[in-house]
Amino acid sequence: MGYLSEEKKKVTTQRLREMKQRGEKISMLTSYDYTMAKIVDGAGIDVILVGDSASNVMAGNMTTLPITLDQMIYHAKSVVRAVSHALVVVDMPFGTYQISDSEAVSNAIKIMKVSHADALKLEGGVEILPSVRRILDAGIPIMGHLGLTPQSINKFGTYAVRAKEEAEAEKLISDAHTLEDAGCFSLVLEKIPAVLAERVAKELTIPVIGIGAGGGVDGQVLVIADMLGMNCDFTPRFLRRYADLFGTITQAVGHYVEDVKSGDFPNEKEQY
Ligand code: KIV
Repeated sequence: MGYLSEEKKKVTTQRLREMKQRGEKISMLTSYDYTMAKIVDGAGIDVILVGDSASNVMAGNMTTLPITLDQMIYHAKSVVRAVSHALVVVDMPFGTYQISDSEAVSNAIKIMKVSHADALKLEGGVEILPSVRRILDAGIPIMGHLGLTPQSINKFGTYAVRAKEEAEAEKLISDAHTLEDAGCFSLVLEKIPAVLAERVAKELTIPVIGIGAGGGVDGQVLVIADMLGMNCDFTPRFLRRYADLFGTITQAVGHYVEDVKSGDFPNEKEQY
């Protein structure tokens, strides 16, 4: 691999740590299928998350809770087949790591063995520490996830900003250190005050990736369908739209329907 330049080499957990040390921001997006992952990887993203947001984006569920282990593995395999550069991280779905540490490690091994992904992401702090430890002991890298953890939406009862109160902020800081000390290679902070996220990123040596957590962290993640403007109903303050694919696709499909109905498509050059 000596002939490959740094940019072309596959991203590793070690490389993400070096990026933090150099002050180079980390870019991360979700993908759930081969075609999108191929485009996202080719565009130079550092990390692709096969998020359990697939439950909402791909399957139309209201929450991330219903997606199963086998469905996540299907999405992860499709993404891994497309990727040659980015680090591929897969969400462990709800219910696959909370019951016991042995069940957690067995499910983690299944995802890694079948999908060939690079790492896993788990939501939660000290309460999932035994599972985190067992999975790390099996040699599987873990990205933590604190703040708004959508698998706990029924406990929170709202998707509002988390850790605004001191007690929750203190617990989040303590959980972040616990996950770093356990050996997690990075941490996602979702929808928390920017000042708190910046403090965590400064205190930790592992990269901290934010979503709705301000610019003082080591990198950013967004859900691909949101940043491409495919979903008009979702308009949180933290979201920047880089395209209007809802409009573009609607227009293209409308055109196609018109052309088929009018007999304009296919023309003579578009047939054998
Ligand atoms: O599932 C997901 O897309 C996520 C991101 C929002 C971080 O966990």
